Amino acid sequence: MITAILFDMDGVLIDSEEYIAEAAIAYFRSLKVEVQAADFLPFVGAGEDRYIGGVAEKYGVKLDLEQAKLDTYAIYEKLITGKEGALPGVKRFLANAHTAGVSMAVATSADKRKMEINLAVMGLDPTWFTVLINGRDIERKKPFPDIYQKAARDLNKVPADCIVFEDATNGVEAAKAAGMLCGAITTSFSTQQLRNEGADFIISGLDEFPDFSTLEEFNSLLVRFMAREEATKVRLHAYTPYSHFCVGAAIVSTKGNIYRGCNVENSSYGATICAERSAVMQGVAAEGDFKVAMVVVVSDDDPPAPPCALCLQVLAEFATKKTMVYLYDLQGRCEAYTFQDLLPHPFIFPTQRERLKG
Ligand code: THU
Repeated sequence: MITAILFDMDGVLIDSEEYIAEAAIAYFRSLKVEVQAADFLPFVGAGEDRYIGGVAEKYGVKLDLEQAKLDTYAIYEKLITGKEGALPGVKRFLANAHTAGVSMAVATSADKRKMEINLAVMGLDPTWFTVLINGRDIERKKPFPDIYQKAARDLNKVPADCIVFEDATNGVEAAKAAGMLCGAITTSFSTQQLRNEGADFIISGLDEFPDFSTLEEFNSLLVRFMAREEATKVRLHAYTPYSHFCVGAAIVSTKGNIYRGCNVENSSYGATICAERSAVMQGVAAEGDFKVAMVVVVSDDDPPAPPCALCLQVLAEFATKKTMVYLYDLQGRCEAYTFQDLLPHPFIFPTQRERLKG
């Protein structure tokens, strides 16, 4: 059960990249040095010492780095105040997580001053974060796991209790090295780049989370996002030389395991096996006493494709009326049904009719 969230800040809670670049350019201009936004790109996410120090080195400017940072932050604060708020959905998500009793920490490589400015600009209730960690508190930066390990320790949590929200590949690497679950957000890197680092699921922002009010609901949403990620990945393995219609399915068992399946077609068309049935077979083979807790299907269709009647009939052996079935398209649009919505009248052998209750 996940009971703690560790947030990276820039790119997850707020998108301040543009403002810090503008502030740093203005700072160098005050020294009569004209630098370009592109000069900073190699140093994004490496902490402010490198961000400003790296560009100073490039232009042969000698700086008192501490003073340079303070001056840059003063410009940054003026630029960003009243302009950039929290990213869409952040306030709602944090309010939900607070109500659900999730422990929360901010763990950023940015300097303390920038973290404080950002928290003020976003207008978040600072008491919701039990722990605030900035770049100064940590020797070895991301991709080392140190910052997330410290955040978990300070919250009195073990890695298995924690999920990290990150937008940078370095950060995903840090979270996974810390043995934590990681939800990646596509503010700064592509889905593929974040997937390559081992993110457990990928969303465009915290606004993708529907409302939740308990730890159970929060954990069920995390499982749904992870199942969607698995279905999305396995869909790419579909064998579809005839229809070219690729489907990925992920079935979560009541034991909490995720089983994946893709459609596999055949020259003799009727021998084709759908993604959903393929996933069911994996689950039965792995667990024996198999029960379905959740079904997620990913297809490139509008609306996203539901399981066909054959697959529903097979699922009826292992699901209940209330088992949730989530259908996603490739853009992340979702339709949600109960199993009963999709197959109100399955055929169940007379001696087995107790099973589909619940
Ligand atoms: N397909 C599935 O994998 N799941 C469904 O529930 C609907 C159909 C596959 C079978 C076939 O390979 C292709 O989609 C076109 O029918």
